[in-house]
Amino acid sequence: MKKLITCILLLIIIASCKLNNSSRNKNISKQEIIPVDSVTVFITGNVMGSLKPCGCSGGQLGGLDRRPAVFDSIPADKRLLIDTGSIVKQQRLSQDQEILSLDEQDLIKFHIITQAFDYLNYDIVNFTRQDFMIARDNGLLDNHTFKIISSYGDEFDLAPGYKNQLSLDGEGINILTVCYDPQEQPLDFITRIFPEEQEPNNVNIVIVNAEANADFDKIIADISGLGVADCIICPINSDEPTLLDELNTKPLVCAIGRKGRYISSIVIEKYPDDSIKLNFNHVAVKEEIKQDQYLIDLYRTYQDMVKNANLLGTNPRYILDDGLKYEGSESCESSTCHSEPSKHSYEYAEWILSDHAKAYQTLVDVNSQYDPECIECHVIGYEWESGFKTLEKTPKLINVGCEICHGPGSEHNKDPYNNKTRPIEDIVKQCLECHKPEHSGDFAGHEEEKIKIIQHWEEPNDVNNVK
Ligand code: HEC
Ligand code: HEC
Ligand code: HEC
Repeated sequence: MKKLITCILLLIIIASCKLNNSSRNKNISKQEIIPVDSVTVFITGNVMGSLKPCGCSGGQLGGLDRRPAVFDSIPADKRLLIDTGSIVKQQRLSQDQEILSLDEQDLIKFHIITQAFDYLNYDIVNFTRQDFMIARDNGLLDNHTFKIISSYGDEFDLAPGYKNQLSLDGEGINILTVCYDPQEQPLDFITRIFPEEQEPNNVNIVIVNAEANADFDKIIADISGLGVADCIICPINSDEPTLLDELNTKPLVCAIGRKGRYISSIVIEKYPDDSIKLNFNHVAVKEEIKQDQYLIDLYRTYQDMVKNANLLGTNPRYILDDGLKYEGSESCESSTCHSEPSKHSYEYAEWILSDHAKAYQTLVDVNSQYDPECIECHVIGYEWESGFKTLEKTPKLINVGCEICHGPGSEHNKDPYNNKTRPIEDIVKQCLECHKPEHSGDFAGHEEEKIKIIQHWEEPNDVNNVK
């Protein structure tokens, strides 16, 4: 009985301690005030032609077709979608800043990406100078469901800014987005667009259009000095989004990364005391995120357009030193030109079982065999005069063949004893030309193990013990 009472007493003491603790916790959480409502401005940009990751190795980020799943995490009436432009990679420009010649594949990408923006219901897309020029020259300024804003092209009536209204805790909130290029627009242009007197229910976002070598510190200081901007978005050459100043100071200065690997957002929160706070967030566009069927099909359309444009083999080509030529892997299997036929039949038989010998089929399986951006690492000598052009013209030069690593075979095939192939140390350097971090995540630093995997020679050859 005594024991029982002690037990009960103990329990009461423990319970009251717990209660004490939890009431203390409550006091703390009273101080972190919970917002009454929020809206989210998703900001993407600098996709630079990256419709989706190449798929060469696992864990890659990005893909337009995964954006709907991220956007739909917020109800449509509580979000705004803005893209800051730089739709395709930088083109070559003339001295007076005109595009010299637009890469045909990039024009196809421009079509497809703007079509994706339409489908995704983007509210605003900022056209950079290059975006504007491509759209102007190819009749792509009209018929979009998104609003184009641009620091360029006054003559086309492109607005430099746009106001969207959303509802925040039952009241309207105005989100004003303007683009600003210090070389094109006077600074006070920003104050002219944003109301002088900051109304509590206005959030003013400035998208900075400027070359990568511009003096961003000065640009940011100038804009901040006006006292009207709540958020400044800078272009920056990093794939990852970055907050360029401390959280919750005004204005919020951020860069949103590149190639669609992340989706940034500014969450606008309203608090019980009517104050409004901005927070910068970003999500990585991971493989686990669900793909959207329409956008998967749009990528198919892109692949078909690339195929129909017959882009393969139209690239500029270099000539190999000493008149050397690529002759294909089969020429190494049975070199009938000299007295010892079938010299490398063993190595050939081993190689043909390796992944390298399937590299072209791998592209066929994903329908990218007509894509110049893919082919270069999956065939022999794409940049060289005697290298792969198309399957029809150069059927023997598909796959990661012998000559990629051992060098062009023409002279060696004629006279193998006097014309040695590439020294082993140079072959190893070759691996990293294709096995770049972007395409082959864990390769660099593991060359030794990787070479073991591709062994196709009879003796386990050491780099030091090759004749
Ligand atoms: C011309 C580009 C290119 C070069 C050069 C190249 N590879 Fe590869 N490698 C590929 C491609 C493409 C694949 C994928 C083939 C497939 O699965 O279709 C691959 C696959 C592999 C694989 C199989 C994947 C794995 O990790 O199991 C290994 C191992 C490999 N390469 C090792 C090497 C080594 C070692 C070198 C240098 C001696 C080298 N590669 C040079 C393009 C290249
Ligand atoms: C810079 C060279 C390079 C380019 C360009 C390239 N690849 Fe690859 N690809 C590789 C290498 C290297 C591998 C082998 C990666 C590994 O296993 O580590 C590979 C592997 C692959 C694989 C096999 C992946 C697997 O799971 O086995 C696919 C599919 C593929 N590439 C598709 C593409 C497509 C599509 C493109 C164009 C959008 C492309 N590649 C462009 C180098 C390249
Ligand atoms: C991805 C690169 C790669 C490809 C493709 C490749 N090899 Fe090799 N090969 C090597 C490397 C690396 C070594 C040497 C490894 C060592 O000695 O450590 C080698 C070694 C050899 C050797 C023995 C070493 C010598 O030079 O005497 C022969 C013969 C050979 N390869 C023939 C071929 C033939 C034939 C093919 C095509 C059917 C082929 N290789 C495809 C990378 C490659």
